[in-house]
Amino acid sequence: MVIAIDGPAASGKGTLARRLAAHYGLPHLDTGLLYRAVAARCIALGRLADEAASEQAAQTLDVSDLDPEALRTAELGEGASVVAARPGVRAALLDLQRRFAGQTGGAVLDGRDIGTVICPDAPAKLFVTARPDVRADRRFRELLGRGEDVSYDAVLADILKRDERDSGRSSAPLLKADDAVLLDTSDLGIAAAFAAALAIVEARRG
Ligand code: CDP
Repeated sequence: MVIAIDGPAASGKGTLARRLAAHYGLPHLDTGLLYRAVAARCIALGRLADEAASEQAAQTLDVSDLDPEALRTAELGEGASVVAARPGVRAALLDLQRRFAGQTGGAVLDGRDIGTVICPDAPAKLFVTARPDVRADRRFRELLGRGEDVSYDAVLADILKRDERDSGRSSAPLLKADDAVLLDTSDLGIAAAFAAALAIVEARRG
């Protein structure tokens, strides 16, 4: 069983993906970490603007070497969105995502293009969203908790800019797949959002 979860920044898709994976005993891949890791390599080399450098970083990425703690910074979220708009970077990361999805028993993947490009045949697809102010508030608290020095206004501006870049790019834009079920988590706590997501997946399994 493959569960494909897409949505914009801080919509709650990562939390839902982790919980669904735990519930069904499936492996989970947060595909945003791949793009964040590519951005981290490029920034370390001082070459974020260099398309060839980002493609090479994507081609040589070691998935076993992803450190979520180090990668979930605001700077790398922004950098990830820059490198993710490059078709060569996306192409280099395609196979490993499909292999992950193809594991015996299935997998849960979350990102921006899982239901549309990576796993178009996934039986269960969710498109998770929430109002921008709610997403900004969640991300603001998360970054504060990590000790980052950020303001709510800067986080909201970053989220709006990333929404626009991710939705407007020509290569695998953020888009709800026709057969994905929309889940708006704006007014849902984690338990309620999980219950709603589980009901959607169970209906598709049936
Ligand atoms: O956690 P958050 O939603 O803020 O970001 P993320 O899921 O870690 O993704 C960071 C950036 O990577 C996004 O803004 C996208 O530009 C890009 N991304 C993508 O293009 N395709 C994916 N499947 C996952 C992430």
